[in-house]
Amino acid sequence: METFGQMLRRSRRERGPSSNPVVVSDIGDIGYELLDADQARPLTDALRELYAEVYAEPPYEEGPEHVARFRRWFDDHLREPGFRLARATDADGELVGAVYGHTMPAGEWMQPQVGEPPAHILGVPKFAIPEWMVRRPYRGRGIGRHLLTMLLADRPEPYAILASNPAAPARRIYARMGWQKVGRIRPKLIPPMDVLVLPLPVG
Ligand SMILES: CC(C)(COP(=O)(O)OP(=O)(O)OC[C@H]1O[C@@H](n2cnc3c(N)ncnc32)[C@H](O)[C@@H]1OP(=O)(O)O)[C@@H](O)C(=O)NCCC(=O)NCCS
Repeated sequence: METFGQMLRRSRRERGPSSNPVVVSDIGDIGYELLDADQARPLTDALRELYAEVYAEPPYEEGPEHVARFRRWFDDHLREPGFRLARATDADGELVGAVYGHTMPAGEWMQPQVGEPPAHILGVPKFAIPEWMVRRPYRGRGIGRHLLTMLLADRPEPYAILASNPAAPARRIYARMGWQKVGRIRPKLIPPMDVLVLPLPVG
């Protein structure tokens, strides 16, 4: 079984020396691409549909209010520095999964934070990952891991950071991948979440 580090090194080899967003690979019937903000903006409606489907599931059980908030936040995220989105599509070109992130400058943290963040992580730039989602029928095939690996390859930031619902299966996946809990946030619309970081580069 390929480790996360091995997959990251293979992804870097497959991408070659170019740092521009490019079609990265086809694995079986799934195509993968890494996109910048201009390339990702036209996917907004497809991403909103993916979000609505994935986060309607337990433990999230989100509804239209959350989907509308995602739509607004995604517009904001597209304007953040360092934005990148990795997407997976099926043989018909339909979106089956995506993960995206952007640079969170030194001194900034996930909000609304509970307690004091570790100073050595607060004080450096981080790569913040707001969403990681794969449609249920496509899960457990390595699509999510491949998307995350593509997104994290060659990032300049020393850490990746995200917030995870402690009751979600994804929380256990993060733990197995080496993400470490460094705090909590207490959002308004959803339950408290763990703040997790992963030292970069991976592998
Ligand atoms: C999290 C998610 C994106 C993973 O996508 P996926 O395509 O199923 O992921 P993969 O098949 O690449 O599996 C990734 C790892 O998680 C493991 N895994 C998958 N489902 C799991 C589960 N329910 N419980 C525990 N581990 C699980 C896999 O075995 C794999 O580990 P390995 O590579 O060490 O074998 C997907 O489950 C999802 O969309 N969940 C709902 C949205 C969500 O919670 N996103 C995270 C928000 S913070």
